[in-house]
Amino acid sequence: MSTDVPSLEQTLAKISTLANASLQETFSLPPEAYTSEPLHELERKKLFQKEWLCAGRTNSLKKAGDYFCFELDSQPVFVIRQKNNQFAAFANVCRHRMMTLLEGKGRCKRIVCPYHAWTYGADGNLVAAPHMDVRPNFDKSELSLHPIRMEIWHGWIYLTLSSEVESVASLLSDLAPLVDLYEMEHYVQIIEEDHVWNTNWKQLTENFMEGYHLPVAHKATVGGFFPVEATQFSESEPSPGFTYQFFEKTEDAPVGTAHADNTSLTGKQRVTSILPTIFPSHMYMLAPDHLWYLSLQPKGPDKVRIRYGAALAPEVLAASDDPEKLIAETTKFLATVNEEDRVVVEGIQRGANAPLSSGGPLCWLERENHEFTQFLARKLCD
Ligand code: FES
Ligand SMILES: [Fe+2]
Repeated sequence: MSTDVPSLEQTLAKISTLANASLQETFSLPPEAYTSEPLHELERKKLFQKEWLCAGRTNSLKKAGDYFCFELDSQPVFVIRQKNNQFAAFANVCRHRMMTLLEGKGRCKRIVCPYHAWTYGADGNLVAAPHMDVRPNFDKSELSLHPIRMEIWHGWIYLTLSSEVESVASLLSDLAPLVDLYEMEHYVQIIEEDHVWNTNWKQLTENFMEGYHLPVAHKATVGGFFPVEATQFSESEPSPGFTYQFFEKTEDAPVGTAHADNTSLTGKQRVTSILPTIFPSHMYMLAPDHLWYLSLQPKGPDKVRIRYGAALAPEVLAASDDPEKLIAETTKFLATVNEEDRVVVEGIQRGANAPLSSGGPLCWLERENHEFTQFLARKLCD
């Protein structure tokens, strides 16, 4: 067996071959797809500096001045709720000497740079710059924060560094009718956290896209509630912007079905959960009573920052005798499920770094993984 590291061209040729094979004949990505520095650089350039990335949900920013930070590849950004309750996104970098302005999340009336106190409004305009008035022709109006292209879709906040990428509404137009009636934009945010895991971002995307591991890796938590044979896939042509699977629960399932007070969902939708993956890196499970999601920010071939969140349908919280207890229990349960995923996606990354590893044949339950390979081939291999 050769231990030569494949070149970027060889890796791309393998991805292309796998994308062109049928699901019955294809394999998972080769190990170098998860470890290669040159491929990581190409993904940064062609995916994470170009595509729409999800920074979070509008429901996390409830009042004027509420903000959270995010990164589009190496560009720090923040999203902030305006006085008129609209949302805006800006480069999180001071126009004086490039200090990052905000950290994490919070609420503010003004954005004050921690270096020399240049001060910006929530609309991004520079409103104060101490000791600068003696400089001739100093014009604050020329020094607003750089706006970031943003689009809100069903309560999700998508950002991009590209001025050219097609709108989210257009990319996800075929997804809209499948999720409209859930009214997920009204689901009440209960968790939003960032974590860093030691794995390649694609391991996590692929892990989300297949339910094959649920009865095994999650046998202590959700595994027993997911008969994997019940997994269903779309019968229409794959969309270039997303893929999804869905499944139905039995009406007596403890979670994942519509609350009696939910009047918008009817028939099978009351027991149906849908799991879209918005390429490249936004995934969520939308159930009639709750929502949880991941948005990924690669930090090298072996490291990924995960924005992870969850929300509950408003009628579920309204009907609860003890909403705080419900939130605490849900948070704890989902943290356990997440930990089960961390163990496997870090484990397969160690496997990808091992010299005797190779990709293996895919199962029918890994159909979306094949669609993801095809997405990668379209974006990276031309
Ligand atoms: S870098 Fe922000 S005020 Fe100087
Ligand atoms: Fe999982």
